[in-house]
Amino acid sequence: MFTKVQIKLTLLYSLLFLSLFWAFSFSLYFWMTKSFGEDYISQVKERHSQLGDTDDFEDVKTTVVTVAGDIALEQLFALLLVINGVSLLVVPTTSWFLVKKSLEPIKVAHEKQKQFVSDASHELRTPLAIIKGETEVALKKTRTIKEYKNILKSSNEEMVRLSTLVENLLFLARENPKNNINFSENVDLTDLISNIVFRLNPYIKEKNLKVTLKSPSENLVTRGNKQLLGQLFYNLTDNAIKYTPVKGNITLDMVRDRNWAKISVRDTGMGISANNKSNIFDRFYRVENSRSVIKGYGLGLSICQSIVNYHSGKIFVKSRLNKGSEFIVLLPI
Ligand SMILES: Nc1ncnc2c1ncn2[C@@H]1O[C@H](COP(=O)(O)OP(=O)(O)OP(=O)(O)O)[C@@H](O)[C@H]1O
Ligand SMILES: [Mg+2]
Repeated sequence: MFTKVQIKLTLLYSLLFLSLFWAFSFSLYFWMTKSFGEDYISQVKERHSQLGDTDDFEDVKTTVVTVAGDIALEQLFALLLVINGVSLLVVPTTSWFLVKKSLEPIKVAHEKQKQFVSDASHELRTPLAIIKGETEVALKKTRTIKEYKNILKSSNEEMVRLSTLVENLLFLARENPKNNINFSENVDLTDLISNIVFRLNPYIKEKNLKVTLKSPSENLVTRGNKQLLGQLFYNLTDNAIKYTPVKGNITLDMVRDRNWAKISVRDTGMGISANNKSNIFDRFYRVENSRSVIKGYGLGLSICQSIVNYHSGKIFVKSRLNKGSEFIVLLPI
């Protein structure tokens, strides 16, 4: 598809530039012919008569001027011919490379989009296949109430996973959320984060983790969308819980750093290798060793990245394999 577009655009640009080139050359040649023609000679004659030259001398001069004009025109013609000949080769080649270069980012975005759709379809297929299989097996014969309950419970779990996935996909597919989301709410980050820790408490207890919340004496308040900021810190805390082994430590630290609210989510978990650090914010990217053991879609951090961008903030990660990770978020105050 892109090669076709590249060929078409190259032809179009070449035609445009060559037409301009040729039109300019013709105009120049035409104008020069006129200038070196009768007008020019009559002007020379007039000058000579003013200076009082003899007729003989005037004739010789006129002939010299005419011949000089013809030679100059011939040379100009040859030059324009060479330039236009070279342009026949140079213009299409240059256009080809320029078009290729300008199409490159569109090509990358297209590839990413294709990958996103294919990954999304793949992830949607798994829970759907489980629900389909379970219900088909359930319908094959009459079952006890307990069996039906188990099947319904398992299907319900898959449906919850499915709806979370669909919600995440819809979030990432949004074109320009700035238009219909209120980003000017006053958000008390201290309250927001304490609330998230409270909501995640069952999972914290399940893994016997120690969570420490450090906040400044004065509550940190930023402007933005409360729901989205809640999702941002929920995803980061959820990751810290998921990727930290039993009895580990998690620290949520909030400080004011000049005009920024700096929030860090630190854990003593499995950490991320230097190779993987640059990819973890990509959609559907999961580090291989966590993929097999811990459930997830690899969308949480790309959602975090989008939310931070909408709030004109920054997010970065520091991590050491098997030592722990720290995700730092900076939000303007
Ligand atoms: N605190 C962390 N410690 C170690 N690895 C992490 C941490 N946070 C993220 N990762 C790695 O980055 C990957 C991407 O994280 P992300 O939150 O985007 O997806 P996920 O947690 O796998 O799935 P979900 O879509 O449910 O959030 C994870 O799969 C994990 O390998
Ligand atoms: Mg996650």
